[in-house]
Amino acid sequence: EMSSPETPPVTNVTDKYAFAFDIDGVLIRGGRPIPEAVEAMKVLNGKNPYGIKVPYIFVTNGGGKTEQERCIQLSKQLEIEVSPGQFICGHTPMREMAAKYQTVLVVGGEGEKCRQVAEGYGFKDVVTPGDIIKDNPDTTPFRKLTEDEVKNSRARNFAEVKIEAIFVFADSRDWAGDQQIILDLLMSKGGYLGTRSETFNEGPPVFFSHNDMIWSASHDLTRLGMGALRLSLEAMYKGVTGLELNTTAYGKPQIGTFQFATRLLQQWRRDTHGIDAPPETVYFVGDTPESDIRGTNEFNEQSKNTWYSILVRTGVFQEGTKPKFAPKATVDTALDAVLHGMERES
Ligand code: G3P
Ligand code: MG
Repeated sequence: EMSSPETPPVTNVTDKYAFAFDIDGVLIRGGRPIPEAVEAMKVLNGKNPYGIKVPYIFVTNGGGKTEQERCIQLSKQLEIEVSPGQFICGHTPMREMAAKYQTVLVVGGEGEKCRQVAEGYGFKDVVTPGDIIKDNPDTTPFRKLTEDEVKNSRARNFAEVKIEAIFVFADSRDWAGDQQIILDLLMSKGGYLGTRSETFNEGPPVFFSHNDMIWSASHDLTRLGMGALRLSLEAMYKGVTGLELNTTAYGKPQIGTFQFATRLLQQWRRDTHGIDAPPETVYFVGDTPESDIRGTNEFNEQSKNTWYSILVRTGVFQEGTKPKFAPKATVDTALDAVLHGMERES
């Protein structure tokens, strides 16, 4: 094809390497895009001196809405098209648990959104804290449901409902109420609300979509995250029962998340770019040493040196401290991270 002023210059998609991005603190802060991140996407899409495009995916610990919905939002924020085929959030790999558990309590997020996520994953019977409070308002003495919550919640006879597992999909909007309900279930006879076990060892398992103690939102300083809720739940359980509580966290830095990301990237490169071979290097750009850098480094060791960690200074990590897990490179912004990877490859 001839190039004319109307047609953009020809760009080839590189099959040698790819990028993976964390979202909060790298691309977005408190719902607003970081300007350099918007530019970084343009560079990956061809606005670079090499005349190439570089494939990329997103791997966030965040969640609380469907992948589809989140991608529409991300597309607007970053001024590119983002497809669910290149997106993983904290709860995405939890969809596999729908084959194992029928009736589940799903905690966190806005309104009915997490119920919709769970039902989309194929969970057959999804209970929310709102359902439980609607059925018995005495459950949470200081939390009253809003009109909307009363309207949307599904009261039923919980004495007959066995809750088989608890999933925290997104940050709790009401720590006190949610923790009370989770504790009630953990201390119940086999997952039946309103009962108390004599041994406290027959409650449902608890799964968190990630374990970030802190994260980077719109405030200048980091905010408490789901890992903090997990820690406090474990402490409360110990306080009331005297026993240790074992819970499971998904998300970064879990190796399973990086394996999932590897499969997603492979499929994305094949389906959209016709690339069959795996990339030689995946540049992971993150702001949280404990999740992003730790996970990337540990996965790198298991994957023949194919993942390369880059830490940015726009989020959790701030200059002046030494990161607990050392990245291959530290740069200011997502744009600098992209330029670093591209220069290294050229
Ligand atoms: O709640 C989300 C936050 O803990 C982390 O999101 O995109 O930085 O992995 P992200
Ligand atoms: Mg982050």
